[in-house]
Amino acid sequence: MKFASFAALLAGCVVLVAAQDNSIAAVEAAFRNAKIPGDLHINFRPTELLEVTFPQASGSSITLHAGVQLPRNATVGPPTFAVRGLTNAPRGQKFVVAAVDPDAPTPQTPTSAQIRHFLGGDFTLGQSTGGGTRELVSNTPPVSGFLQPTPPAGSDAHRYVFLLFRQPAGFDNQTTVTPATSIANFNISAFAQEVGLGNPLAGSFMLVAPDPSA
Ligand SMILES: *[C@@H]1O[C@H](CO)[C@@H](O)[C@H](O)[C@H]1NC(C)=O
Ligand SMILES: *[C@@H]1O[C@H](CO)[C@@H](O)[C@H](O)[C@H]1NC(C)=O
Ligand SMILES: *[C@@H]1O[C@H](CO)[C@@H](O)[C@H](O)[C@H]1NC(C)=O
Repeated sequence: MKFASFAALLAGCVVLVAAQDNSIAAVEAAFRNAKIPGDLHINFRPTELLEVTFPQASGSSITLHAGVQLPRNATVGPPTFAVRGLTNAPRGQKFVVAAVDPDAPTPQTPTSAQIRHFLGGDFTLGQSTGGGTRELVSNTPPVSGFLQPTPPAGSDAHRYVFLLFRQPAGFDNQTTVTPATSIANFNISAFAQEVGLGNPLAGSFMLVAPDPSA
C-alpha cells in the first residue's frame, strides 16, 4: 500500500518533468551519459531535435525529454514523431524512424538485444506545430509496428532509443528486415550500413522499468 502510493507519487513527478528537449547539445550529452552511442555502435552527432510524443488515455500527451523515465502504462503508444530543424531539407525528402531496446532481457545481460520496437519509412515533413517543429507523417505501413516496452519483472529499467535517419533511395524495397524478421537480436548499426541510412540526424530515448503490477 505504502509502496503503491509512493510509486504513484514517483510516476506523477516523472510526468511533471517530462518536457520536450530544446538543446541538441543536451540530447547528445544525454545519449553519451547513457552510453547509447557505444552500445548501439552508432555515430551520434545530431543536427536536429526529434520529438517523440506518447498519447495518454487521459490528460495531455507526453513528449520525451531525452533520458526521461516513464511509467510503462504511459507508453502504450503508438507514439507520433516530429522534428525541429531540417529547415533546408530538400522538398520530398523522406525519413526513416527506428526504435530499439538494447537492454533485453536485462541491461546486465542483454542476450536478446536489440529488440526492434519500431521501424518505419516514408516519413515526410507535415504540418508545422510551431517553434520550427514539423510533424513527421507516413502513410506507409511500418516494417515493424510500435511495440510497447515490456521489461520483464525484476529487470532494471531499459533504454528505448528512437532515431531519425534520412531515407536512402530504394529503402522501400529493402529486404534486409521485413515484417517477418524476428524483432530480437536486431542491430541498428548493421542495418543502417546495409541499407545505407548513414548516421542518425536526431534521436531521443526514454527509460521504462517493469510494470509494478506485473
Ligand atoms: C499508471 O499507473 C499508476 C499507478 O501505478 C497510476 O497512478 C496512473 O494513473 C496510471 N496511468 C495511466 C495512464 O494509466
Ligand atoms: C522498388 O521496386 C518496384 C517494383 O518492385 C519498382 O517499381 C520501384 O522502382 C523500386 N523502387 C526503387 C526506389 O528502387
Ligand atoms: C552490430 O553491428 C556493428 C557493425 O555496424 C558491429 O560492430 C557490432 O559488433 C554489432 N553488434 C552485435 C551485437 O552484433
